[in-house]
Amino acid sequence: MSQKSDILYVGVDLGTSHSAISASNGEHHVIESYVGWPVDMVARKVIKKPVMIGREALDNRSMLDLRRPLEKGVVKEGSEKDASAVHELLRHLVGLAKGKSGADGKRKVHAVVGVPAGALRASKHMLREVLKGTVDGLMIVSEPFAVAYGLEELLHSMIIDIGAGTSDFCVMNGRYPTDEDQRSVTTAGDTIDEQLAKLVKEKHPDAQFSIHMIREWKEKWSFVGEPKQRAMVTVPVNGKPTSLDITNEVRTACEQLLPPISETMLDLLSRVDPEYQERVRNSIILAGGGSRIVGLGQHLQEALGQVGHGKVRIVDDPVFAGSNGGLALALDAVDADWEQLTV
Ligand SMILES: Nc1ncnc2c1ncn2[C@@H]1O[C@H](COP(=O)(O)OP(=O)(O)OP(=O)(O)O)[C@@H](O)[C@H]1O
Ligand SMILES: [Mg+2]
Repeated sequence: MSQKSDILYVGVDLGTSHSAISASNGEHHVIESYVGWPVDMVARKVIKKPVMIGREALDNRSMLDLRRPLEKGVVKEGSEKDASAVHELLRHLVGLAKGKSGADGKRKVHAVVGVPAGALRASKHMLREVLKGTVDGLMIVSEPFAVAYGLEELLHSMIIDIGAGTSDFCVMNGRYPTDEDQRSVTTAGDTIDEQLAKLVKEKHPDAQFSIHMIREWKEKWSFVGEPKQRAMVTVPVNGKPTSLDITNEVRTACEQLLPPISETMLDLLSRVDPEYQERVRNSIILAGGGSRIVGLGQHLQEALGQVGHGKVRIVDDPVFAGSNGGLALALDAVDADWEQLTV
């Protein structure tokens, strides 16, 4: 049996758009969930690396077979390339956590990996396979549960984690959540991007933009409700840089999230033991990149007005809330909690 001090504990938030790691040696890293391999021998010569990961991969995408291997929180079905992309992503994250010093290089790694609630079953088998050889002990948990654990919001609370591929909901009852306590819907950040691209294209058919530009605009200007400022962007129109007002398009695209998120929240609440509903209503926590949409928390709080009073708050650190929670779980776990991964 290993001594606790021989082991590097890590919490990993494996996300569709970003993946984060928090480690027991104090390392914290976040990368964009992209992996790319050079497309041909010319690209190989220019790039001088067998594989590129994260922002670097995105920036060199013209030379790469670029993968965003997770879709709706799970590895895309039936693609070996995507499975090896997840492997590269996790190996890279664990490498970052081990640091350059080399002191942690030889330590065993025990990882708690958070995945979207709805994808838990589908992901488990695949993750076990791709993690063999990279980590020695593994625990796979639902992402919103990891967030709840990290915040110590384990009793009578609800976490709503709005990511890129999925929005995940979890009610905490002071024990490990069951399927009934969790929901996952596929309306999330990517849905806003697709809708925003469509709306901008309709209004400005000659504007030239990519989905990456759309995402940047959204992240800068996202809001729901009455606009407090105009969302202005500069785009080439027939090759000429032109300033466009996309306020209404941003609003419509972001507001698309409201019905599915408030309905799922209210539905899950209605299934909570009636004695505890009020306490859960007053402890609703928004996490994930989507929690940064201006006005979203307030809107959901107003939606709670339909069933009485409620309170919605937003996590302080949406980037690391999941991986920090995973690390907290890893540090509290006992030997029996770990699944051993031997090659
Ligand atoms: N300020 C912002 N306003 C609106 N959306 C934002 C903002 N910042 C980030 N996002 C969006 O949040 C999403 C990323 O959030 P997060 O990193 O939590 O997702 P993920 O964990 O990668 O995805 P998932 O949990 O679905 O696998 C992206 O769609 C991103 O564009
Ligand atoms: Mg996530």
